[in-house]
Amino acid sequence: MQAPFADPLSGLELLTESLPLVGRDSEMQLICALLDTVLLDRQVGARALTISGEMGVGKSRLLAEMCIEARARGFRVLESRAYESGVMFPYLPFTEALRPVLRSLSAVQLRRYVGLDDEGDASHSSIDAPISLMGTPLVTALASLFPELPRMLRVTVTAEVLSPDLEKFRLFDAIASLLERMAMERPVLLCIDNLHWADSASLELTCILQCVCILAMLPWQESRVRRARSINVRFLLIASFQQLQIWRRREH
Ligand SMILES: Nc1ncnc2c1ncn2[C@@H]1O[C@H](COP(=O)(O)OP(=O)(O)OP(=O)(O)O)[C@@H](O)[C@H]1O
Ligand SMILES: [Mg+2]
Repeated sequence: MQAPFADPLSGLELLTESLPLVGRDSEMQLICALLDTVLLDRQVGARALTISGEMGVGKSRLLAEMCIEARARGFRVLESRAYESGVMFPYLPFTEALRPVLRSLSAVQLRRYVGLDDEGDASHSSIDAPISLMGTPLVTALASLFPELPRMLRVTVTAEVLSPDLEKFRLFDAIASLLERMAMERPVLLCIDNLHWADSASLELTCILQCVCILAMLPWQESRVRRARSINVRFLLIASFQQLQIWRRREH
């Protein structure tokens, strides 16, 4: 009698299920400590983390575990990754991270996040207020990345003619401001995988956000510097990259 046909692919689905994490106890301890630092807004402790390592060493898995821990602590998790072809697409990791949130928010929440309701509020022009973009200027700057935003918010934006450098700076500032405003309400984890494949503007922006996170760690007495531009709210940035690919990029 002929043996029944055995599907050679049967059982493969088991392999796609996540296997238990092994050998990463100290890394997970560090990650949980970082998340708690941000969650509790401790005045001392890192606000940014990079994970580097060779192909297949477990970077994405560690990021995924971090996202699970962050969600369990109530963080809003903004996840994104760069792709091998990503060098050609400016800001792809940031659009991928932010677009789902912007689309999922109600109009009321969205207005609050971009500070449209605070426009003209005298308390925001006080010396103690953070210096960050808000309201219509913020929407205008973000519109270059999210063209649907002005329509969603029913805001009419008038395009300014800026030099390329100033335009880039304005967009960086806008993204930092948006993250800052989001994190005022609920802790935010921005998690970017495969940074080595990101376009150069995204790399620059990630570096700037890291600096901003470092500024946020300054002692409270230096708060004037913090106010100049720092995400002094519950914000954590984590990025992973293959060291080898970064070296290769430097060579070209
Ligand atoms: N500590 C671990 N315990 C169990 N499985 C792991 C661990 N680390 C990684 N893995 C598994 O090993 C495989 C490769 O890991 P992962 O994709 O995270 O590597 P990577 O460093 O991101 O690779 P690449 O550089 O190609 O992006 C995945 O199936 C992942 O689930
Ligand atoms: Mg990976």
